[in-house]
Amino acid sequence: MPDAVRRIPKYQTSGLADVRDAGIGGQALTRATSGQPPSFDDRFRAELHELFVWRRDVRRFRPEVLADGLLDRLIETACLAPSVGLSQPWRFVVVDEAERRAAIIDNFSRCNRQALEAHAPDRSDAYARLKLAGLREAPCHLAILADEATEVGHGLGRRTMPEMARYSVVAAICNLWLAARAEGVGMGWVSILDPAQVTETLDVPSSWRLIGYFCLGYPEQEDDVPELERADWEHRLHKNSLVVRR
Ligand SMILES: Cc1cc2nc3c(=O)[nH]c(=O)nc-3n(C[C@H](O)[C@H](O)[C@H](O)COP(=O)(O)O)c2cc1C
Repeated sequence: MPDAVRRIPKYQTSGLADVRDAGIGGQALTRATSGQPPSFDDRFRAELHELFVWRRDVRRFRPEVLADGLLDRLIETACLAPSVGLSQPWRFVVVDEAERRAAIIDNFSRCNRQALEAHAPDRSDAYARLKLAGLREAPCHLAILADEATEVGHGLGRRTMPEMARYSVVAAICNLWLAARAEGVGMGWVSILDPAQVTETLDVPSSWRLIGYFCLGYPEQEDDVPELERADWEHRLHKNSLVVRR
């Protein structure tokens, strides 16, 4: 076995019975690197910046399914994210079954209708014109949840701020989002959902809290400007208005 693989510790197996029961193996990460610390140069930094700029929330997909092994690779990259106490509370549910997908689409339609009704008349027309999910077109549905009861990490860092488990999962989601874009895959976050209904639809353990539901697929088009900005719904703020010094 190459050194680089051996140096990656195995996932701790105790405390993962709940994960194994749900059908997710507690196996080691296996992707090897050279084992040498890389030296990132200006060219790499420029390309990385491009990746950040060209990552988009994608809601319009081409019908092709994801290339073989791609989703596994993205999930593996997500699992490299930081997590409080190395608790790795992320849980991934790949939603393939048509009935479950249909229930999620119903859930979204209901919540989106309610959201539309909640907007003041001067906003509701603009809201109705937005496309806020690609659930019907996307070849891949992925729910990402936080196991708030995990004992992995022995509770380190979560005593005063238990929400850190959720934030760790968001860190993993950002990894996945960027890694997807680097592979030419678009990802869209769907939060216009009743989370309790989603976890019921997915039939997951009660300690798993929904963090996000995602559509993945090859995008119809690429853009370096967010869709909500192009639709004139909202605009990016300048960083100077977001930083204070004390
Ligand atoms: C926590 C979170 C929830 C989101 N929920 C939705 C959603 O339900 N529907 C949607 O169209 N976009 C959703 N988005 C995407 C945002 O609208 C998008 O990130 C933002 O407009 C900036 O666009 P960009 O991601 O292309 O840069 C969500 C993004 C985040 C981070």
